[in-house]
Amino acid sequence: MKVVSLFSGAGGFDLGFIQAGHQVIWANDINEDCAKTYTHNIGNHFVCDDIKNISTDKIPDCDIIIGGFPCQGFSHANLKRDITDVRNKLYLEFVRLVRYKKPQYFVAENVRGLTSIDKGEAIKKIINDFENIGYKVDYNVFNAADFGVPQNRFRVIIIGVRNDVFDGRFPFPVPTHAQKPDILKQKWVTISEALKDIAEPDEKHNLKNHIYSKYKVTDRNFTGHRKTDPNKPSPTILAKDTGGNVATHHPKNHRRMSVRESAIIQTFPIDFEFIGAMGSMYRQIGNAVAVLFAKKIGEEFARLEIQKNNIEHEKMELAL
Ligand SMILES: C[S@@+](CC[C@H](N)C(=O)[O-])C[C@H]1O[C@@H](n2cnc3c(N)ncnc32)[C@H](O)[C@@H]1O
Repeated sequence: MKVVSLFSGAGGFDLGFIQAGHQVIWANDINEDCAKTYTHNIGNHFVCDDIKNISTDKIPDCDIIIGGFPCQGFSHANLKRDITDVRNKLYLEFVRLVRYKKPQYFVAENVRGLTSIDKGEAIKKIINDFENIGYKVDYNVFNAADFGVPQNRFRVIIIGVRNDVFDGRFPFPVPTHAQKPDILKQKWVTISEALKDIAEPDEKHNLKNHIYSKYKVTDRNFTGHRKTDPNKPSPTILAKDTGGNVATHHPKNHRRMSVRESAIIQTFPIDFEFIGAMGSMYRQIGNAVAVLFAKKIGEEFARLEIQKNNIEHEKMELAL
């Protein structure tokens, strides 16, 4: 299916959809480093500008619009979460473009905190806004670790289906992994398993972006300052634009994870190269949708399309 991507960042969401067989035809982000990383690794269909400056006639028609609108204003890490935070208003740009492009589907990704802001009023308003422009909307909170990502990363996925596309609701992806495996699910992938073949950055290696900030890791038991348990999935890889460092420890707890290691935990391919200063690269990675998780969502759309085509085909055969 043809995909338009908003708030594309370095392209984690997009890459997952591409891996699931979709074609991303247009992408946008305001950040120049994201533009460089994206075009270097994914493609030239990227427009670097403030989404507020882009009129709908500049965006091609598509089947799906995807995007993780900026989440800092919604995040649990931001103690002053507030629906009036200007960064939260960017979702209205998402609504504007869905309203005018009328894709069959849209998918929005955000931090879990979105579901509890203002005692649930923010998500209700967001859903209402999309329902008012002709979409059935469902949302669910997922942990990326339940899909084979070596990281506990809770994110809300909001999916809209245009009212005329089909009856019923969108089939969300079903977890393939669990903390306690069973006959249907494999065991969570741990951070040590994910990084087992990665050399120390100060030793000989040929990995791209295998550099790390010398920020001293501490164990003060709050986000970004906790020891990492080598036998569990990684703590959430975060991107903070203000308010101090979040330095996720390497599983040996002797230093911060390198840019490359953080990208591996976010399931970017090993040769995906980030561009920018070190802080910018960490931020691009922390902002991304884990690629493997994005792929699982993309696969549901691919399956749905096959089902819809089969039904159309059967109807045509019956009519003959
Ligand atoms: C959560 S990140 C999205 C990451 C992306 N989904 C991925 O998987 O890599 C949000 C992005 O929104 C971008 N952004 C913020 N304000 C914007 C604006 N006014 N116009 C376009 N992009 C904006 C930021 O630069 C950031 O890269």
